[in-house]
Formats: sequence, C-alpha cells, structure tokens
Amino acid sequence: MMDDRNEDNSLSTKEFKFICQFVHSATGILLNESKREMVYRRLSRIIRERQLSSFSDYCYLLQTKPEEEEGYFINAITTNLTSFFRENHHFEYLQQHEIPKIISQKIKSLEQKKSIRIWSSACSTGEEPYSIAITLLEAMQTQLSGWHVKILATDIDSNVLAKAATGIYESNRIDDLPKQIQQQYFIQGAGINSKNVKVVKNIRDLITFKHLNLLHDWPMKGLFDVIFCRNVIIYFDKPTQQELFSRYYEYIKPGGLLILGHSENLGAYQKYFSNSGRTVFRKLESSNQVVAG
Ligand SMILES: C[S@@+](CC[C@H](N)C(=O)[O-])C[C@H]1O[C@@H](n2cnc3c(N)ncnc32)[C@H](O)[C@@H]1O
Repeated sequence: MMDDRNEDNSLSTKEFKFICQFVHSATGILLNESKREMVYRRLSRIIRERQLSSFSDYCYLLQTKPEEEEGYFINAITTNLTSFFRENHHFEYLQQHEIPKIISQKIKSLEQKKSIRIWSSACSTGEEPYSIAITLLEAMQTQLSGWHVKILATDIDSNVLAKAATGIYESNRIDDLPKQIQQQYFIQGAGINSKNVKVVKNIRDLITFKHLNLLHDWPMKGLFDVIFCRNVIIYFDKPTQQELFSRYYEYIKPGGLLILGHSENLGAYQKYFSNSGRTVFRKLESSNQVVAG
C-alpha cells in the first residue's frame, strides 16, 4: 500500500510510477516521462470530479478499489485522436482494390450468403468504422442486397464508444469531405442540433459497437476480411505489440488485410504478411496455422 501520501497537490515520482504501472497492466499502454504533464492534467480533472485532495488519495483509491475506478480512469487516460477518412490512402485502397477483389472472389465462390466482415479494433469515437462503412457502400454502389456486411467496432474506452454509437458529430468534423459524401451520408441537424450532423441510418446499421480491451479475450467467432488496427499499438511495448500481431493473424482470413497506422510496423511478424501498400499488410494465403508468439 502507498502509505506516504502527499498532502499537497504535486504528482510525486512514486505516484507517477504507480500510475504508469497501473495503466500498463490494465491497457498495455506504455507511459513515460514525456507523458507526465498529460497524466498530471487528466488526473487533476478526476481528482476535482472525485472531490479528493491529492494525487496520493487517488492512487490510494486505485489501489483499494481498482474494480470500481479502473474503467473511469482508463477512459480519462486514453488518447482518442481520430478523424473521418484519416490516412485516406487506406480507404482509397479498400475502395479501388480490396472491396472489388472480395466481391469478385465471393461471387465466384458461389457462397449462398456472401459476407464481408471488417473489424475496426480501436475505433475511438467512431470516425474510422463510419469511414469504412461509407467506403464499402461507395465501392458496392450501395447494392448491398444479397450481401451480409458487418463492421465490428471496438475500443477499451466506454465514453468514446457511447459517442460513436450516437453517430452525431460537430458539422465541422466533415468540412473536408467531398460534398457528395457529406450530402449522401450525413444529415444536417436542425434547431439546437444545427451545429451537428448525424450519420445516416443505413451506414449506422452496418456497424456493431462493442467494448473490448485488446489485452483481454477476444470473444468473436469467425475470421475477418480486413482488420484495422491503426494508431493504437504505437502506445504498447514491443512484446505486447508482437503478442497482438499473433492474435490478429489468427483472426484474418488467408489473403485478408491487416491495416496499421502511419508510424506502425509489424516487426518480426512481417514475414507472415506481404506488403500491399503503405501500412497495408496481406496475410499470406498459404497457411492459417497458429503462429507462436
Ligand atoms: C488514437 S486512437 C486511434 C483511433 C483510430 N483507430 C484512428 O486511427 O483514427 C487510439 C484508440 O485506442 C484505444 N485503446 C487504447 N488501448 C486499448 C486497448 N488495450 N484495447 C482497446 N482499445 C485501446 C483508445 O481508447 C483510443 O480510442
């Protein structure tokens, strides 16, 4: 137990270390000295909300009631930066190459129920899965009949998931999108919602939002055609990254795609994938056996 609690409002090195360890074991996120200011700001807010008097009190709360406080704390500490069509080359690749390829393969396969399954595995406030859904509809020229299209969108942060599920965004979030996309896939709010837009229902219906910590069990059954894992593993240490890549590998269909963020790479797992574009990796067709971590 942390029994040398500070009475003042400074974040001691011992408390910062405790926070780093707590965050790492709960989420895989690695915090270092460069994040001290960010931790300070976000914890200060929680301390005010919780009407506590010091960081020390908050560390004590985390130690003594982790199950009650952990979710709230994680929501406060995650970095949720995202945008519609972020790293647009991924969506161009999907629209121009991957979706036409999946469609023609499935048509040839004579499967009775032709399905497309995509997983946005750290979806934040939803811009990523909505961009995927829009891309799918654009690529399929909105002809979804006879197709079973499912996008699973997960995140550890319950606040961002709740926001994502509403499909409501400030209008300026879509300012940079082409007018046709704005008009076809977003509805302008009126009255008190006049500064907001809402994603149209046929796009929202393609997505299932679920809470999932990537470090815990993945309860999904079946394989995905494409998995987005963008701008999340960068926060993890190397062993955690490699462990996750081995699990992603098992969840992708042979020949399917794993898409990472612009500054992320597969490290040793590269040998199980071929490069299909900038941070677009294709699982080798040859095998679907478990790759040891
Ligand atoms: C920077 S956002 C990236 C959002 C989106 N993928 C993009 O590239 O725009 C990172 C997201 O990863 C989530 N995250 C962090 N650790 C996680 C974990 N262990 N399991 C699931 N999601 C996690 C955060 O809550 C956050 O919403």
